[in-house]
Amino acid sequence: MTSLLSLLIFGLAILGHTTLWISLVNRVHARPINERWLRQIRHLHDLSIIAFPPLLVWLAGFQGPRLLNGGSWSDLGLFWGGVFIICGLGCVWLTYVVARHQLAPQPRPQRHQSTRVLDVAGEFGERPIAPGPYHVLATLPLNEQFTVEISEKTFELPRLPPALHGLTLWHLSDWHLLGTIERRYYERVTAEIAASPADLICFTGDLIDRMECLDWLPSTLGRLTARFGKFFILGNHDWYQHPETIRDRLRQLGWQDVASQVRTLSINGVELAIGGDETPWMGTVPDFSLVPEEQPRLLLSHTPDNIHRAQRQQIDLMLSGHNHGGQIQLPIVGPIYSPSRYGCKFSAGSFWLKPTLLHVSRGLAGQHPLRWHCRPEVTRITLHCPADRLISNHRSSAQPASSQPVIAR
Ligand SMILES: [Fe+2]
Repeated sequence: MTSLLSLLIFGLAILGHTTLWISLVNRVHARPINERWLRQIRHLHDLSIIAFPPLLVWLAGFQGPRLLNGGSWSDLGLFWGGVFIICGLGCVWLTYVVARHQLAPQPRPQRHQSTRVLDVAGEFGERPIAPGPYHVLATLPLNEQFTVEISEKTFELPRLPPALHGLTLWHLSDWHLLGTIERRYYERVTAEIAASPADLICFTGDLIDRMECLDWLPSTLGRLTARFGKFFILGNHDWYQHPETIRDRLRQLGWQDVASQVRTLSINGVELAIGGDETPWMGTVPDFSLVPEEQPRLLLSHTPDNIHRAQRQQIDLMLSGHNHGGQIQLPIVGPIYSPSRYGCKFSAGSFWLKPTLLHVSRGLAGQHPLRWHCRPEVTRITLHCPADRLISNHRSSAQPASSQPVIAR
C-alpha cells in the first residue's frame, strides 16, 4: 500500500472521529442536562478533536504499527484495527448525512416562499454589539448575525377548514436576550414584525439568557399585537434562568402561555386547538386526546425532536426552534452542530411527516452571536386549505369560488 493511500486513510479516520464526537455532542444537548455538565462535555469534545490527529499520526503512524513509516496495514492488530473501523463508520455516517442534506426535497404542503433581508447593522452603520459574553464572535468578518431574513411562507394543510383559509401567523423563536447583542437590534426587528400584522403570533422558546434583559421585553415582544392572540412556550435556555419569572413577565405583556396544555381558539366560527410542549426540559406533554378529531391542531414545541409524538397526536402544524439551523453551515456539508436526537436532520426549515407539517425556525440569535451561511430569521406563515375543500365550501354556501383568503382583513 502506498504511503499516499495511507495518508488518505489517516485523513478519513480523523474526519470520521470528528464526525462521531460532533454527533455525540448534538445528541447530548438534546437531553435535559444542566448547563455545567454540558460545558464539561463540550470541553471534552474540543480536547478530543484537537488531540486525536497528532496522537493518531504519532502512535499509529510512527510508533506501534508504523503505518506512515514502512509498516504494513496487514499487521494492524486488534486495537488499531478497531480504532480505524470505528472512525470509518464515522465517515460512512458523514456521507449519509451530507447526501440527506443535499437530496432533501421541499415538502409538498409548502406552496410558496419569499425572503428579504433586513440589514440591521447596515442601517445602524455599525454592528450593535455590547461587551457581553462571546462578544468577540460578533465582530468576526462575514458574520451574518445582523442581517435578518424576513421570510414569507405559505403552507397548504390538508385538514385545514375553509374558514381558516388565509390565516396568518408570525413564527418567532430563539431570541436569546443576553446583552451581547444590543437591545436596539431586537427593537428594530420587532418594528419590522409589527409593520406586517398577523392573526396570531407564536413564540417557541429560548427568550432569555440573562435575567437583566427581562427589562427589554416591553419594547420588543411586548409591543407586538395580533388579532387572535399571542402565544408562547419557553425553551431550555429559559429553563437555565428563572422560567416562572419570564412567564409572569410575558403574561403581563399580553402573551398567553400554552405550555403543557391545550387551549381552544374560536376563529370565524371554527375552533383551533393550540398546545405547547416544553419537554424534555419542563412541564408535561399537552393532552390533545379531548380535542375533536376534525378540529385543526397547532403545536408549539421548543425542540423538533417531539415530531413523532406530534404525528401520533394528529397535529396539523408544529412550530419549533432550538436548533438555530446549526448557526454555521458549510458548503455542500450543510449544518454541523444541532442539539437534537436527530442531529442536523431537523436543524431548520419545513418538513412534511404526515399528517404533520413541521416548521423549524433558525431563530433570531443564540448564546454565541455567530452565523455563517445561516442568517437569523423571523417567519410570517399563511395557511391555506386544499383547493377542493375551498371550492366545495363555496358551492355549499352558494358563493363564488375564490382564491382569496376567507379570513377577513
Ligand atoms: Fe436556542
